[in-house]
Amino acid sequence: MRLHVLGSGAGGGFPQWNCNCPNCDGLRRGTIKARARTQSSITVSGDNENWVLFNASPDILTQFQHFPELQPARALRDTAVKAIVLIDGQIDHTTGLYMLREHRQPHQIWSTAPVRQDLTEGNPLFKLLGHYCGIEWNELGIDDTEFTIAGAPGLKFRAHALRSNAPPYSPRRDKPVPGDNVGVTIEDAKSGKKIYYAPGLVEIEPQVWAAMQAADVVLVDGTCWSDDEMIALGASKKRSRDMGHLAQSGPGGMIEWLDKLPTTTRKILIHINNTNPILNEDSPQRRELDAHGIEVSYDGMDITL
Ligand code: MLT
Ligand code: MN
Ligand code: ZN
Repeated sequence: MRLHVLGSGAGGGFPQWNCNCPNCDGLRRGTIKARARTQSSITVSGDNENWVLFNASPDILTQFQHFPELQPARALRDTAVKAIVLIDGQIDHTTGLYMLREHRQPHQIWSTAPVRQDLTEGNPLFKLLGHYCGIEWNELGIDDTEFTIAGAPGLKFRAHALRSNAPPYSPRRDKPVPGDNVGVTIEDAKSGKKIYYAPGLVEIEPQVWAAMQAADVVLVDGTCWSDDEMIALGASKKRSRDMGHLAQSGPGGMIEWLDKLPTTTRKILIHINNTNPILNEDSPQRRELDAHGIEVSYDGMDITL
């Protein structure tokens, strides 16, 4: 199977339009060594021809332009995207659907029932798309039952609920229910190789840990380095964990967990917030990740398993 990182940034991307934190300002001025990043999305294929899109980022059109495999140009109107899986109902994971409204048939969309509710009520995107191409909704189970996706040969999937948070606009913000956020295991049907993808998670619960241990590649929440990162910068009153993201550093942080995985597991951070010091390639925090064998994903990162 092949996985392509379309967007490795968190909500807002990097640099964020209105942000002058040391990272965003440093990137604009060219005073730090860092790469710009678009917002949170990956795409996966089992046959290098048919692709499943995970999340539809506000930056989707730019992301598609940078990955021509998604536009094979076999007909006047064409796409290689066969289905779209939504990890949650957050703005950074769903807004791109507006940009895909010109499709010639309903989009095959996979989401949990709570995400469908948010995208029908709080942010009535699914209803709105009904006035354009429409959607064909498929329920994403949250009990790790194996499923396949029509049009995506060679891949098997499993999803589970995990602890993070519902979107800021959701009536369930700060009181999420199972299914507001998921982690997904993507398996190559032939080789049995597995990738675990969870861009938003605040706790390594038993089902999360089991999936991480079973995977050859883990692609997990890299939002914040420290729990009080946004507070220390004066950018927000919220801790990383309040937003549903487990910070990398500190006791019980993501680095400690990733350290417990076998050395053969590829450990990669994704959904990196623009305030995170690991974006600066010369930072001590980035060196610390290097020392732990933890990679930082970037737009265009391509993994073949
Ligand atoms: C998050 O991951 O916490 C959200 O995407 C934040 C946001 O909507 O900007
Ligand atoms: Mn996000
Ligand atoms: Zn910033």
